[in-house]
Amino acid sequence: MKPKVLVTREIFDDVLDYLRQHFDVTDNQADTPMDAATLEAKLADKTGAMTTLVDRVDAQLLSRCPNLKAVCNIAVGFNNIDIEACTRAGVMATNTPGVLDDSTADFTWALILSTARRVVESDAHVRAGEWKGWYLKQFLGADVHHATLGILGFGRIGRRVARRAIGFDMTVLYHDGQKADADTERSCNASFVSLDELLARSDILTIHVPYAPSTHHLVGAREMDKMKPGAILIHAARGGVVDDAALVEALKGGRLVGAGLDVYENEPSLNPALLALKNVVLTPHIASSSEATRHAMAMLAAQNLVAALTTGKPPNLLNP
Ligand code: DGY
Repeated sequence: MKPKVLVTREIFDDVLDYLRQHFDVTDNQADTPMDAATLEAKLADKTGAMTTLVDRVDAQLLSRCPNLKAVCNIAVGFNNIDIEACTRAGVMATNTPGVLDDSTADFTWALILSTARRVVESDAHVRAGEWKGWYLKQFLGADVHHATLGILGFGRIGRRVARRAIGFDMTVLYHDGQKADADTERSCNASFVSLDELLARSDILTIHVPYAPSTHHLVGAREMDKMKPGAILIHAARGGVVDDAALVEALKGGRLVGAGLDVYENEPSLNPALLALKNVVLTPHIASSSEATRHAMAMLAAQNLVAALTTGKPPNLLNP
């Protein structure tokens, strides 16, 4: 008898075929979102699960799933999973680090350029038939080249964002809990500064820290007050790291000239005031969503699940 596993959302067919070689799979290729009660009912008799960042895995769910041995998230972020509760329940939890770094860095740059140069706003203008011809001061934006880029969180993704800045001849500053080694700083052309200095000097501030209680509202009203007047905020990390209500005020008050956002507090119901602002670019949490990268994420999660339930040693184990 093959172990029973649940895949909570639609995945790629070949990844599903791979899982079926090892498991009795309950899939959700119809991609119907599951509320907590449905997830609990479907997972009650399963040994493993492939989850996404919208599935909450907490102590209550685990207490209803006595056979569960592994939960493999199709995401590098894992704030939807209570790791301590998993460990107490003897459930292995895994994520998908590494495979999405370049796509996420690429997309960060899409947000930087489209926000600074008002691409989305001007596209809407043309589509609405409002363009009456060229004039000198039309859609004046901010230059990205030669500007100062501030990177908050200098892990795998933050460093890739920095390397991409080399082509724009930018000054690159970063802040992180840990200063990078000299070789990394040199290859990224980036200098370590305090958080306050990062806020004060960045023309464009981009955030690349994971969400955890310690990073909740890491960038809030106080930090936005310290930002350089007229700066741009880019956020493709995790909702909750930025205080979205404070961001709305900073944008309305003109403290910040624009924001490019891929993640929000309380996704998918974002702060409605953001929708009314023309100087923000809003995308639906798709920074990692190139076809190749989303496939790689799903395959890595599947490989974690197979390894967890066959060897007990998944490559990306999160439990301490
Ligand atoms: C992740 O992997 O955590 C991303 O946010 C998913 O897009």
